[in-house]
Amino acid sequence: MTSAQRSTARETFPPNRPRSPPSCRARPCTGPLTEAETCPMWNALRQHHATTSDRPIADMLDADRARDFSVQTGDLLLDYSKTNIDAEARALLIDLLDRRGVAARREAMFSGAKINETEGRAVLHTALRNLDGGPVMVDGEDVIPQVRATLDRMAEFAEAVRSGAFKGQGGPIKDVVNIGIGGSDLGPAMAARALAPYHDGPRTHFVSNVDPADIATVLRGCDPATTLVIVASKTFTTIETMTNARTAKAWMGEAVADPAAQFVALSTDLEKTGAFGIHPDRVFGFEDWVGGRYSMWGPIGLSLMIAIGPDAFRAFLRGGQDMDRHFRAAEWHENMPALLALVGIWHNQVCGHATRAVLPYDQRLGRLPAYLQQLEMESNGKRVSMDGADLTCESGPIVWGEPGTNGQHAFYQLIHQGTRIVPCEFMIAAQGHEPDLHHQHQLLIANCLAQSEALMKGRSLDEARAIMAKKGLSGDELERQARHRVFPGNRPSVTLAYPQLTPHVLGQIVALYEHRVFVEGAVLGINSYDQWGVELGKELASSLQPVVEGRADATQKDGSTAALVGYLRTHGA
Ligand code: F6P
Repeated sequence: MTSAQRSTARETFPPNRPRSPPSCRARPCTGPLTEAETCPMWNALRQHHATTSDRPIADMLDADRARDFSVQTGDLLLDYSKTNIDAEARALLIDLLDRRGVAARREAMFSGAKINETEGRAVLHTALRNLDGGPVMVDGEDVIPQVRATLDRMAEFAEAVRSGAFKGQGGPIKDVVNIGIGGSDLGPAMAARALAPYHDGPRTHFVSNVDPADIATVLRGCDPATTLVIVASKTFTTIETMTNARTAKAWMGEAVADPAAQFVALSTDLEKTGAFGIHPDRVFGFEDWVGGRYSMWGPIGLSLMIAIGPDAFRAFLRGGQDMDRHFRAAEWHENMPALLALVGIWHNQVCGHATRAVLPYDQRLGRLPAYLQQLEMESNGKRVSMDGADLTCESGPIVWGEPGTNGQHAFYQLIHQGTRIVPCEFMIAAQGHEPDLHHQHQLLIANCLAQSEALMKGRSLDEARAIMAKKGLSGDELERQARHRVFPGNRPSVTLAYPQLTPHVLGQIVALYEHRVFVEGAVLGINSYDQWGVELGKELASSLQPVVEGRADATQKDGSTAALVGYLRTHGA
């Protein structure tokens, strides 16, 4: 066979082989089931994938498939028809949920059981958006009255800032600076950007990095006499946040008599916020059953609430609550978070696609990929299952992305023609917030839909040859040029569509992803709610600080680290 003959679109690229599929070697996943019970279901999925992975998705897309392989709830439509999941694969995946006891674990989460077992904590971010639901008990106490009281206090304070009733020492607040990192930054920063059209409060800024460039850039544009600083830290110990908070306090202290009076704290540790000098009236507390990356629904969302107002913030919460109700009640085959999770499991654990691209065709969701990186990778990037046994499945996927259409002009080349398959998740609104530029939004929609179509259909070598022939090429040159223009196609994607990015819609989207992460973690037997993997680097940074400052000897470090310290100190560190 000549190389040209081998190069038809779908022959050129062999079907993706699962790199490290779940196996029966040890325990495939831990949980209530024994190995004997658990293995057959992963094996059935693997076998089904092996026999169907070559089948063109485009050929599966008959008239009914878009309806049968999509799900709607609230304002959202999730289309997963452009994947090679068929009815049998879906049934096997749903079987996985039943065998893994996901429904019982879901109920345990919603009802306040301590499912974060390594930290002995409940997982109740859903309680923060429980606007009109029933009681939720933790250690015999209903937590909902306290949640609602805190929300009311936040709303009162936010209104005071917005109206000018709460003043800085130089007049009404014009700038709000949220200092936090990870979950104390990414959620509110992502949402503040997403909901910019609803922003009618003071200017809002986010400082996260300990890199002085971050805080210096933000403070340069603010007047200390009319700035409110929000120190957002669940633990109130995170070194980046506390360092930036002290820098901000010193900056403010140079201009106003009582800098602490313009500081607010959002934390679970009220002793530490007091020690920092922040009056209890301006401390908004929450409990340890709110994980950092799940915390934007409560006090950590204060900067967002000040920006968009308490009513819009409540609409955001209501969106989350609507998704909670759907997730808790819907049958698996029409349960959007569960289906999104199963699509992810299919692509990652069954097909072996290690990464997932999140591609919002919504410029204001520019920080969503970063937010989802923490949500997904800090939650499900774990190598042992709940009971400490090695995970023999792959852990959660590598998540990355950028808004379209910018990504199209950067990395889509690899997505279309690279050797690895990257399942893509497209997001698109029917309407933007710029009615005068609706035609531009329509162009955005066309681009989004074109990408998923191109990924699925590809372009065969014969089609590429025809294009080259039309351009006047022939012979070897035609053949050579045509091969560069082949798109293998058959690359999976899902599309999440919504009417418009309102606070209510954003709430539904964020809760959708949270529950998806829950389902993935429950299937893998992972504790999605701890994050021990971030600790070692933090410890080593503390021990390296005196070395970098020249107060301790670098030779105690490994040769590479010592040499790097040496270079940096020679150059002014
Ligand atoms: O280092 C990881 C982490 O603990 C995240 O889980 C958390 O969102 C972030 O740090 C910030 O923590 P804190 O809110 O306690 O400052």
